[in-house]
Amino acid sequence: MAAMYDFRIETADKAEAWRQIASAADALTDGEPDAVANMANVAALLWETLPDLNWAGFYRNVGGELVLGPFQGRAACIRIPFGKGVCGTAAATGEPQCVDDVDAFPGHIACDSASASELVVPIVHEGRLIGVLDLDSPRPARFDAADVAGCLELGRILAPRLLR
Ligand code: SME
Repeated sequence: MAAMYDFRIETADKAEAWRQIASAADALTDGEPDAVANMANVAALLWETLPDLNWAGFYRNVGGELVLGPFQGRAACIRIPFGKGVCGTAAATGEPQCVDDVDAFPGHIACDSASASELVVPIVHEGRLIGVLDLDSPRPARFDAADVAGCLELGRILAPRLLR
């Protein structure tokens, strides 16, 4: 069956916006096991609904290295070792990285010179790192605790749908 998706987030409240995004992402990926399709649709959803982004997408854990996945924005670095840059730090530590000023982050990998702040959250399934979700913004300190919580919840919904 063909479907047309038209997601509009109509609230000024960030936590509520993230609930709506999580619900839309859940609906988009429900019953679909294909990881590429699910990452592609969620990257598009985030790109369309979140203000002030210049990049939104995924890196996958491929044999202990982060490899570029579906995204929206400018072409980006393809492979990132664990421990390198913001994404590699999130992968190595298992902790979200919310960076107000990427130029002040040791080892930040500048894929797009427009990026000023960045949020990366690990996506974990049954203790295993599946990949990371990466959001970049041209606005310094674009991301806050509500964004971290929203991305973590998104990761929990997506993780079992990104396995193959
Ligand atoms: N800046 C990231 C690299 C990925 S791009 O932003 C898409 C980092 O330091 O990990």
